[in-house]
Amino acid sequence: MKYYNNILETIGNTPLVKINKITKDIPGAFFAKVEYFNPGNSIKDRIGAKLVEDAEKNGLLKPGGTIIECTSGNTGMGLALAAVVKGYKCIFTTTEKQSKAKIDILRAVGAEVIVCPTNVEPADPRSYYSVAKRLAKEIPNSIHMNQYDNLSNRMAHYESTGPEIWDQTDGKITHYITTIGTGGTACGTAMFLKEKNPNIQVYGIDVYGSLLKKFKETGELDNDEVYPYLTEGIGEDFVPQNYDMNLIDHIEQVTDKDGAVMARKLAKEEGLFCGYSAGTVMQGIMQLKNKFKEGDVVVVILHDHGSRYMGKVYNDEWMRERGFLTEEVITAKSIVERKQIRQMIVASPDDNLAAVFHTMKEHGLSQLPVENNGEMVGSISEKIILEKLMDNPFNKDNKVQAVMSPAFPFVELNATANDISKLISKENAAVLVKENSGQTSIITKFDLIESMAG
Ligand SMILES: Cc1ncc(COP(=O)(O)O)c(C=O)c1O
Repeated sequence: MKYYNNILETIGNTPLVKINKITKDIPGAFFAKVEYFNPGNSIKDRIGAKLVEDAEKNGLLKPGGTIIECTSGNTGMGLALAAVVKGYKCIFTTTEKQSKAKIDILRAVGAEVIVCPTNVEPADPRSYYSVAKRLAKEIPNSIHMNQYDNLSNRMAHYESTGPEIWDQTDGKITHYITTIGTGGTACGTAMFLKEKNPNIQVYGIDVYGSLLKKFKETGELDNDEVYPYLTEGIGEDFVPQNYDMNLIDHIEQVTDKDGAVMARKLAKEEGLFCGYSAGTVMQGIMQLKNKFKEGDVVVVILHDHGSRYMGKVYNDEWMRERGFLTEEVITAKSIVERKQIRQMIVASPDDNLAAVFHTMKEHGLSQLPVENNGEMVGSISEKIILEKLMDNPFNKDNKVQAVMSPAFPFVELNATANDISKLISKENAAVLVKENSGQTSIITKFDLIESMAG
């Protein structure tokens, strides 16, 4: 029989997968270490098991004990798996910024989760660091794992991630690239790889709003660099002990938007459905493309799985609300698909103006196409009706065909917002489009504005 004694034995030995499309214009070969193959779907399973093991060895964690940690989710999952197998309790503190899915997952594996405010100083008693520290003091037989300053974090990568990459590349690796949070993934792995070959270049990918890049470049802890950002799990407002900045050759910063857009691209173009930081690291590579040459073997860490970001990076509304989908081309097709009421209201040439006005009022419309036997023969707007009634109130009994304007023009389904806006004018309040189903739909000035204003 071939089996594992428990889930912890399945941690590590994740596959190295060639990146084929996204990096095709950059010299060198790029390989992703796909860490969502770990049982808890992230690289942090490696450190969860190691932190628990070392705490046991050092006598800091005794049977029946409680593991306390501040975690954006992934480390919590890693610790929870170790706790389940070994019989410990877990209490995690996290911030409001983290995906709800991540928090629910931690609860699913038996942990207690306390959500703390995001935008407070680490020293503030409400911060998730301070709450974890306080609980560890108050609860007997408990340990605050502190992945930031506990060097077992980077040792997990020194002992597993580093050797795996070295073996998988037959020692040919020239560049190691990862996003940086606690610094464990970057520095533990780099420590091993640089011992094997000091020429290997290590790039850390940071996020705007973090002070790590400036600290690396100037040694200054500049709080002016620190501001709220959306990317989860990376960047810091202090420098954790797991850092040895000498092991990192360059730090590059990426915006929240670029990381999110790239995460979606990674899923669509490579089939690598990963978390937010995977987009960030790939975007970092694009920004650093001039640093690579033919023959380079570049290994990039993709930390976790995309399923934890369904309410965020992989949710169109979330992306649109933050202006991350601005390059999305708005077309006639996308506009009609967004419309809540798809049924088109039309007037008939024989209707009288009073009846048409009544229909417009009932549906909150300012104009109607005029249809006769399935053909668009004209259009009628509230402006025309008003003009006619001003001329003579008895005109309310006039037939539409006597006063209607030319029919609204048809556009193709792939006509852009720009094409449509050129056709919409004072005289022409809407355009028509034939959908693939054969149904004709109307796009009014209002629909066009709504599609752009969101
Ligand atoms: C999704 C994700 N990416 C990247 C990182 C950064 O890894 P490290 O803390 O080892 O620097 C983390 C850390 O929590 C993470 O959760």
